[in-house]
Amino acid sequence: MKKQVLVTGGTGYIGSHTVVELQAVGYDVVIVDNLSNSQLDVLDRIEQISGIRPAFEQFDLVDQEKTEAFFQKYPNLNAIIHFAAFKAVGQSVDKPLMYYRNNLVTLMNLLECMTIFNVPNLVFSSSCTVYGQPEKLPVTEDAPVQKATSPYGNTKQISEEILQDTIFANPELKTIALRYFNPIGAHPSALIGELPLGVPNNLVPFITQTAIGLRQQLSVFGDDYNTPDGSAVRDYINVVDLAKAHVIAIARLMENKNKKNFEYFNLGTGRGASVFEVIESFERSTGQKLNYKVVGRRAGDVEQVYADTRFANEELGWKAEKTLDETLVSAWTWEKNLRK
Ligand code: NAD
Ligand code: WQD
Repeated sequence: MKKQVLVTGGTGYIGSHTVVELQAVGYDVVIVDNLSNSQLDVLDRIEQISGIRPAFEQFDLVDQEKTEAFFQKYPNLNAIIHFAAFKAVGQSVDKPLMYYRNNLVTLMNLLECMTIFNVPNLVFSSSCTVYGQPEKLPVTEDAPVQKATSPYGNTKQISEEILQDTIFANPELKTIALRYFNPIGAHPSALIGELPLGVPNNLVPFITQTAIGLRQQLSVFGDDYNTPDGSAVRDYINVVDLAKAHVIAIARLMENKNKKNFEYFNLGTGRGASVFEVIESFERSTGQKLNYKVVGRRAGDVEQVYADTRFANEELGWKAEKTLDETLVSAWTWEKNLRK
């Protein structure tokens, strides 16, 4: 029998790409999503790519009763990948309770159901935001977690603590937290990708929307950082590469290859790219000229962060493969397809 994996947030950006990769290696996928930040037609698109329509249940994972009813309906789950969360840093500053409730209660409900219904394996979406501005770069997993600069970031830190404590108390549970750096790009089919609501906060959707004419100009937030060209540096990781790491993590847990019951890994390329480098790479690889201007720094931004990926490379046998150029081309193809 195929192993069955629950993917929460599976119609979302990273979730949908992960569903495709899970199906490609033969997992039976069940998606739970309340469609608060994604659309139902993602299911059609997943089916177009993989030839398989995943099972889908639409409800809010904050609702404990519905979550329990779900676990009753699906008694054969082997593992869970928990993507469902709110993720807009700025909105979390304005609506902290909305973020704490959604991101923490969903996790706690799942953990309770995992113990009640004996589902031992969980992969959790964490973030490089837990490192803040690290003292040493590239940042390793043992770098100290810094005080979060937003309620969103804090939900990821608290989630990791909740996981650690829950796993300590329940040795039958196992978790891998994956700390994503900056996920970008889209599936090569251009059938799934990122769907930001309203004006994008993140760099790459803002770039593609500017190039297509939806935004007039990209603002480069600061050119006075202590970096080679003065703009801020991040580790941009292709979303398909990222999705593949989840497939490896879930197998590691199911095959009992994990070395601790709570493990966490950086998922990045290991290479930092500045905002100017991203613009240059986009312009070169797509042939699109970008209208941009330098403005002041954005509040809360760190100067530079990029991953030491050795632990993930060695332990998971995973490595980011796609280049920044090809990833930006995939983001551009996705944007063009969306606006057709
Ligand atoms: P996304 O918003 O595209 O996907 C999240 C999905 O979860 C959406 O489809 C949404 O409808 C669903 N959802 C949210 N709350 C829910 C709830 N209470 N019940 C049911 N469904 C719910 O986001 P994404 O970019 O795919 O991010 C996935 C995960 O990765 C999140 O946990 C996010 O915090 C984390 N992460 C994202 C990034 C990034 O830059 N995209 C970086 C680091 C970590
Ligand atoms: C990247 C760089 C900006 C927009 C965020 C979250 C983080 C994680 C990933 C979830 C920065 C610059 C951006 C623009 C710009 N998400 N920029 N003009 O802030 O590194 O990370 O997403 O966990 O928690 O904080 O990503 O894409 O917003 O910014 O110059 O219009 O691009 O200043 O240097 P960030 P980003």
